[in-house]
Parts: sequence; C-alpha cells; structure tokens
Amino acid sequence: MKMRISRRTVSGLLAAAALLAGGLARPQPSQPVPPAVEALAAKIAGELAQHCPLADANDAAAFDSCRAMLYGDSTLRAHLPPVLLWGRQSANPQATLRQTNLTQFAPDVWIALYAPLFMFNGRYQVEWVPAEKQFAVRLEAAFRNRLAPGQFPYPFWHDDSKWGTYQNANGFLLWVHPATLKVQVAQLTDRAQNALLQAVTPVQQAKFDGKWLWTDAAGRTQPAVTLFDGLYRAENPYLRDLDRQYRDLALQMRESQCTSCHVPNNPDKMSRLVLLSTPAHAAGEIDRLIKSVKEDRMPMDEYRNSYALSPEDKKWLLESAETFRGTVQAARAWEAQATRAESRLPAPWQPVATGQRKEVSQ
Ligand code: HEC
Repeated sequence: MKMRISRRTVSGLLAAAALLAGGLARPQPSQPVPPAVEALAAKIAGELAQHCPLADANDAAAFDSCRAMLYGDSTLRAHLPPVLLWGRQSANPQATLRQTNLTQFAPDVWIALYAPLFMFNGRYQVEWVPAEKQFAVRLEAAFRNRLAPGQFPYPFWHDDSKWGTYQNANGFLLWVHPATLKVQVAQLTDRAQNALLQAVTPVQQAKFDGKWLWTDAAGRTQPAVTLFDGLYRAENPYLRDLDRQYRDLALQMRESQCTSCHVPNNPDKMSRLVLLSTPAHAAGEIDRLIKSVKEDRMPMDEYRNSYALSPEDKKWLLESAETFRGTVQAARAWEAQATRAESRLPAPWQPVATGQRKEVSQ
C-alpha cells in the first residue's frame, strides 16, 4: 500500500535528470530523509488511511468517525504547531509557500473542521524540498464533496475555483519542519501526480448569499460544525451560550470593521488570512483577538495602519470577546470532564471483576 521515494530513487532520478539535461542541470542539493521523518510520515499516512479511508463522498458517518479520531489522540494532531497555515496549492506551480496565500488556523480548529473532509488510501511520498527547507509529505487524497452544506466550515462554493479545487482534490500535502517535526503548513491540491482516487460527482451548491453563518429551516445555526456539532456532546450545557455570545461578538466585530477583512473571501487580500467568521474560528483565535484589540493593533485601515477604536467600541468589543472566551473555556472543560468520567466507567460488555484475566496481545 505505502510508497515512498527512497534515498536511492531520488539520487537516481536526479542523476538521470542531470544526464537528460546534458549535464547542464546542477543536481539539487538533496537531503536524505531521516528515519524520524520517514517514521512520522508513515505513521500519519497509516492513521489517516485507517481512520479516514475512502468512502462515499456523502458518507456522514465516515466523516464523523474520521473527525473523532483525528480530533482525539492522533499523530497528526500531536504534530501541529500553535498556528498552522492551510490552503490551496498556488495556481502558479513555481510559487513558493511564502508567495502562496494561506489561512492561519488554531490546530484544534483545523483538525476538527478541515482535515476530516478528506479521505486517504495510505499512499504517500516524502521528500526534502531544498527551496522550502522543509520535508513535503505528499498524500493521495479525495474530498467529501457531497456532505450536507453545514458540514463544511464555510461555503467553499462562494468561489467557483476554490470549490472546484476542493471537489477534485487528489492530494494533501504536509510540510514538516526539520527541527521541530511539526507540520507547519498543510495544503490541498487537485494537481497531484496520482489519478483521482475515485470518481467525483460534482455538486452544484445553492448560490452563495453572502452569509458565513445562517439559520436553517429547523432554526439551527449553520454551519453546524462551527458550533462544535459532532465534537462536543449534545448535552454540553454551554452550546447555546456559545451560539448567542458569538452572535453578540459578531455584532461588535461588524461595528469595529473586523468583518470587512477577517472573512473567507479575504477582501483585504491578506497573504496569511485570519478567520473570525464563525464561533469555531473565533474560538480558535480568541486570545489573539483580545490581545490585538487591547494593544490597539487591530483594527487596521485600508492602508493597513493600526488604529485605536473609540473607547466605547473597544469596551463593548472586549466585553463581548471576554464573555465568549469564558464560555469557550467552560465548554472545553465540561467536555474534558465528561471524557474523564466516561473513561472511568467500566466498559458495559466487560465484567469488572472475574476470576480469570486473559492477556490480549495485539
Ligand atoms: C483592513 C483590514 C483589517 C481590519 C479591518 C482588521 N484586521 Fe485584523 N488583521 C489584518 C491583517 C492584514 C492582519 C495580519 C497582520 C500581520 O500579521 O501581518 C490581521 C491580523 C489579525 C489577528 C492576528 C493577530 C496576531 O496576533 O497575529 C487578529 C486576532 C485580528 N487581526 C483581529 C482583528 C479584529 C478583532 C479586528 C476588528 C477590531 C480586525 N482584526 C480588523 C487586517 C485587518
């Protein structure tokens, strides 16, 4: 199943390329892939294939179990930095990561809302990319394009080209820093070397109406995933407050111009976008949000000069942000407590104390 470029293949290919180019092409400084990076790539690829295998692109149960596993004790999650960059591979194949527009994510937001939208077959390649000074782990992947609209963190179809790339994705790239072994950057692409993993039935979504958050016919806030649906227990007593308090915060952010820049269509063309447009996205950024407003670094004007809000606006914005942060922390603590309580319960199918205990070896 698994595949990787071995050291020997790389140098062989480079030598062949140099020969083909008549000796003109200088061989790229190649760095062997150290065992720790090989092992990490193999482990991540194996877990992804195990927990997020190919399934129908509308299989909500497969999405849920993939998400629960990645959000739990996964190797991928354990190797995310405090801020992860994520986005499409640049349309320009020559563009470096630095020249590529990407979005900043808190690791728990990305692992819960973005990574599980992909399915994997376990095949990957890992190589050192000298221009980036990072290892690239290139995984074959497919995208769950036929989930319900509320399962996507925002309507990717606000932009046809973006939705097209997501729908036809055939690769998922992880850029691994050589010193920390953290995944600094993750990207999706529809231009990986491999074929599509399965046939794609394109979905024509309803025209985007400009709302990043909406209420469905049943009165539920959507996208449901951005209200921790499927991540937090339905009994979590803080869910309703999170919804209401985010809406208060969103009003203040609109008042203070934040929403004219920090939204997925990226009106300000930020090269490292920060999203504040849903409860989950704002929860991931809430500490930075409060800090940057307190220090008068945000908002910015059209020339990207910071300016201080009026004392009134600043007070209301900070008040609603701090209230929201309190509830985010309480909701997380409640979940952690519930998980601990569950793990203390004996599994229902297992008698607690029997005379004999069998060692189960795996
Ligand atoms: C004119 C566009 C614009 C507006 C309006 C704006 N921002 Fe920003 N924001 C930016 C840019 C650009 C950056 C990236 C700055 C950088 O790191 O270079 C940024 C970064 C941030 C960050 C990450 C900061 C960090 O510590 O790295 C947060 C949080 C943030 N903004 C919150 C806000 C809030 C809250 C508001 C409203 C009070 C706001 N922004 C208004 C453009 C804007």
